[in-house]
Amino acid sequence: MTVEIDHNLEEIRRFRPSPEFAAQSIAGPELAEAAAADRLGFWADQARELLTWSKPFTKTLDWSNPPFATWFEDGELNVAANCLDRHVENGLGDRVAIHWEGEPGDSRAITYAQLTDEVKRAANTLESLGVADGDRVAIYMPLVPEAIVAMLACARIGAIHSVVFGGFSSDSLASRIDDAQAKLVITADGGYRKGKVFPLKPTVDEAVAKTAGSVEHVLVVRRGENEVGWVADRDLWWHDSVATASNEHVAPAFGAEHPLFILYTSGTTGKPKGILHTSGGYLTQAAFTHKNVFDLHPERDVYWSTADVGWITGHTYVVYGPLANAATTVVYEGTPDSPHPGRWWEIIEKYGVTIFYAAPTAIRSFMKQGRAIPQSFNLRSLRLLGSVGEPINPEAWVWYRHVIGGGSIPVVDTWWQTETGAIMISALPGITDLKPGSAQTPIPGVSIDIVDDSGTPVDDTNGGLLVVTEPWPSMLRGIWGDPERFKETYWEKFGDKYFAGDGARRDEDGDIWLLGRVDDVMNVSGHRLSTTEIESSLVAHPYTAEAAVVGAADETTGQAVVAFVILKESQKAHAADVAATSEELRAHVARQIGAIARPRQVFIVPELPKTRSGKIMRRLLRDLAEGRQVGDTTTLADTSIMEVIEAQLVK
Ligand code: WTA
Repeated sequence: MTVEIDHNLEEIRRFRPSPEFAAQSIAGPELAEAAAADRLGFWADQARELLTWSKPFTKTLDWSNPPFATWFEDGELNVAANCLDRHVENGLGDRVAIHWEGEPGDSRAITYAQLTDEVKRAANTLESLGVADGDRVAIYMPLVPEAIVAMLACARIGAIHSVVFGGFSSDSLASRIDDAQAKLVITADGGYRKGKVFPLKPTVDEAVAKTAGSVEHVLVVRRGENEVGWVADRDLWWHDSVATASNEHVAPAFGAEHPLFILYTSGTTGKPKGILHTSGGYLTQAAFTHKNVFDLHPERDVYWSTADVGWITGHTYVVYGPLANAATTVVYEGTPDSPHPGRWWEIIEKYGVTIFYAAPTAIRSFMKQGRAIPQSFNLRSLRLLGSVGEPINPEAWVWYRHVIGGGSIPVVDTWWQTETGAIMISALPGITDLKPGSAQTPIPGVSIDIVDDSGTPVDDTNGGLLVVTEPWPSMLRGIWGDPERFKETYWEKFGDKYFAGDGARRDEDGDIWLLGRVDDVMNVSGHRLSTTEIESSLVAHPYTAEAAVVGAADETTGQAVVAFVILKESQKAHAADVAATSEELRAHVARQIGAIARPRQVFIVPELPKTRSGKIMRRLLRDLAEGRQVGDTTTLADTSIMEVIEAQLVK
């Protein structure tokens, strides 16, 4: 059969930027024109314009030894001074850098002058502990200002930070400490989550005990006020050491390719990969995208990315991008629903947030709760919304724009990865006609293509594999300690093209639609079906709050579509008649996409298994759908969810 089904993502809605927004937009068409005329010259101009160099660079890109790139190699800069000192020198010392909000409601406003001061003290402390240029420092913290200070202090002295998300176990932390041979761990006694203090220091103690012995000191911020164990000679309080250190510290200049950080991310199997990023190129693309994709007017905007610094979004769009651009950013310690489900909207109202960047999974869970909660807050300060982390279903996109954005402001869907370091595909909000569900266009200076399995570009709209065809400034420089794995994972498949692991297609206008990880693309009776596409269809049904789809092995069709659906609060009554409800949803998908996409089964479930970073664990759902014993659940945010779902399936 050669019949191709229609894509559900064939969206017809278009949202043109309002004339008022377009008139004040930072980015215009000249960016793409300049990049098309001279790509490397364009990035060199951005690097010179957006950053302050201690020693100017003369070379832009060296790609003579692919896949190992260098950018701006003979230039020198200090990343922390670019985020701090130069703004103070430029008269912006009194501008608020961070509006920090603790989960219990305590708050701190920290100006650029104060943040610079604190980072200098921390830099002096780190140096006094023997941490030097090139040493690795593990940071295992709640989302408190000191986490950001710790990252910048490392950057200032040329130490390489490895932030490990505070939700990871002691085993995960230990393996990351060992892999990087970290000399220092920076942590806190505890932090606030869901109304309670969760202890961190005991996990660090456990982790360090399991390591091979690289850790010399543990620096501890007091936040939770919980009792902690203490190892004399190894442990120090932040308030005893950093607070009393000198606030004089001259930032040394480092080469543009000096390593800035390692961030571990899970691969398809085996141990996490330590993704390595360096200084000049990373900061250039972080600052460029933060400015242009979010239309940043630093003198008047209040920007908020809800990400934790444990993830790449927290690195690039909580810390480095916003601070390099002298933005005022909101940082919130806790969960979206503590102590009440309107907490995020309350924070937007409190600080007058103008630019808001969050993940589709959160947006869908707010959809589930209904619009009454956000509508009870004043969200009129918002003028731009962003999405990141997974494809955003058109229905969720439209809800986000209407209910959170008041119906008239742009929503940018930004595609990128830990490995890419910064945004690669996104609309530019002042000039792009927006399409719900599509990430749309490569950012100026980034070269994207969609190829088939042999690397040949596909020009029809059926889709293929997303590749980056030219090196980009913020690209990963490798996997820590494992150059072979770096080559094998990303470059071996297509030679000189970077293989992202995502499926994508182009529409008639050339806009890019992400179809999910290639391992999530199903093949049913020889037809390619995207999990995202069917999930979007399910979410578009009035019953559905959230949906996850997996391809389960099937004797007849190769794979079969199996769906797991959470009903909206207002539709919960339909759970009483599971058979009728599943049938209705199956028929709906068949109607929207085609009979080939009709799910074999639709299960109505109360929750979906998610990782701590909010990604749906389809692997576990596939186990259930294929009647297997559920596999490893250690990365789940809540391990009891699998039992709850399993119990539902048996009924
Ligand atoms: C997915 C997060 C569709 C994608 C910044 C990618 C997306 C992986 C989008 C990287 C998006 C991220 N649309 N898919 N806008 N953004 N992804 O490393 O599958 O945590 O490969 O980086 O998330 O996840 P990571």
